[in-house]
Amino acid sequence: MTQDTLTAPAGDLAGDGTRWWRDAVIYQVYVRSFADSDGDGVGDLPGIRSRLPHLAGLGVDALWLTPFYVSPMADFGYDVADYRDVDPLFGTLDDARGLIADAHAHGLRIIVDVVPNHTSDRHAWFQAALAAAPGSPERARYIFRDGRGPDGAEPPNDWESVFGGPAWTRLPDGQWYLHLFAPEQPDLNWENPEVHAEFADVLRFWLDLGVDGFRVDVAHGMAKAPGLPDVGHADQVEMLGTAVLPYFDQDHVHDIHREWRRLLDSYAGERIAVAEAWAPTPERLAAYTRPDELHQAFNFHYLTASWEAPAMRRVIEESLRTAGEVGAPATWVLSNHDVKRHVTRYGGGDRGLRRARAAALLTLALPGSSYVYQGEELGLPEVLDLPEEFQQDPQRLRGDGAGRDGCRVPLPWEGEEPPFGFGAGGGSWLPIPTGWRDLTVAAQRDDPRSMLNLYAEALRIRRAHPALGDGSLRWLDGPAGTLVFVRESAGDGARGRVACAVNLGGRAVRVPAYGTRLLASGPVRGDGDHVELPPDTALWWDVEEDG
Ligand code: NOJ
Repeated sequence: MTQDTLTAPAGDLAGDGTRWWRDAVIYQVYVRSFADSDGDGVGDLPGIRSRLPHLAGLGVDALWLTPFYVSPMADFGYDVADYRDVDPLFGTLDDARGLIADAHAHGLRIIVDVVPNHTSDRHAWFQAALAAAPGSPERARYIFRDGRGPDGAEPPNDWESVFGGPAWTRLPDGQWYLHLFAPEQPDLNWENPEVHAEFADVLRFWLDLGVDGFRVDVAHGMAKAPGLPDVGHADQVEMLGTAVLPYFDQDHVHDIHREWRRLLDSYAGERIAVAEAWAPTPERLAAYTRPDELHQAFNFHYLTASWEAPAMRRVIEESLRTAGEVGAPATWVLSNHDVKRHVTRYGGGDRGLRRARAAALLTLALPGSSYVYQGEELGLPEVLDLPEEFQQDPQRLRGDGAGRDGCRVPLPWEGEEPPFGFGAGGGSWLPIPTGWRDLTVAAQRDDPRSMLNLYAEALRIRRAHPALGDGSLRWLDGPAGTLVFVRESAGDGARGRVACAVNLGGRAVRVPAYGTRLLASGPVRGDGDHVELPPDTALWWDVEEDG
């Protein structure tokens, strides 16, 4: 395999009309944990730059970079103090320019995060709001209210923060401000035209610098229900993504996305936006990707589905149906920096790894676009036993094992000892388990059966085969516990078909050999006409005509 060789760009990076995003495989770089160039134990932009040949060789189409803007890091960059500059921890604006240019030269597009629901409490606007009086224009950029109760000592409503506790903090002057996340992340008031103008300018700043799009943080939260009504229910975090809450997924949030789409469309080169939106149903999620709104929305219903054929099939069908109804591609995602890594979610150990390998082939065979979270291509598990003193994620304060540090442990690149080439120094901001010496990029590169090579091969085939990527699928009958489907090229281009079978059950099954084997996620045996598919295994075939 060719980890270090360049691949041809997926599309015409400069041109319009490629609709590249409809089937792009986008690799999520959690900047803090990807590669550290200056030895301070924290990943940075020059670190990413130095690893671009590896990413291009892996065969992804684009990178999504998590926030690298000026931030006090109360939520590791999702608390932005200056949207137009790079935090010194991660580099400089020139490093960002260089990274964008180098990525493009490698055929990789760049998507950056934008965090519009809230700023940092150190942002100049919030500092001005603190210094100003209740009712002032400075406070009107955020959501300040008087409290309830005789002396206003009760929060204005019963909303809870996603990180635990009330979503309101009181100031010495008696007013309260809203923060759906940490107190250091005050929510902006999107009823205020000044907020719209400011973010339009921020988007333009990065578009002018050459980025190919944005991942929109909390895209479902920017608009709140008029009057800020009570939820009427405690433990609201348990309702996330399943219930309608007055602070998420409000109908009028879509007006903002329409405005942003117009702005994106005013730029050449198919600049895109992907919504981080937790919506109660696939229909409501698809609404974020209507033709005049954002291009993609992460499919968290797929991410949270259990490893069972009926559950997976249901979510795949619903996702394809609802995305299809609005003419958008489905956007598949298995892991990110906010959830337990799927090797562990699927059972951990050998079984979790086997399932994650099968899930990779399932996901990359589905119609639409896919995201790959850094480290899933190495089969990294969640680190469950991080010593207390290293745990830093504000969400851990919620209890219920909700801390996200375990999926953010830095990438192991090479060598026998931590930090495994992650940084020029001897450390990393979260310790890397010594047991990851067999999971480093270098250790996997020359092993044809490694997870890294499974991803690289799947991505190579996906790019070359006309049946994979955008389009539709046709289900085939398969034994209980399996998902079997065929993909067919559409349009006037090259013809071809790929069949994919996944055994999500606990027993080996016999399935017909649908064609010439392209790739398997684990060992399979065949007798010519049939294949024995072990549990938690997936297989791709190239199907000849009439197959
Ligand atoms: C979603 C981000 O992915 C997460 O990391 C962050 O804590 C919240 N939004 C708040 O910005």
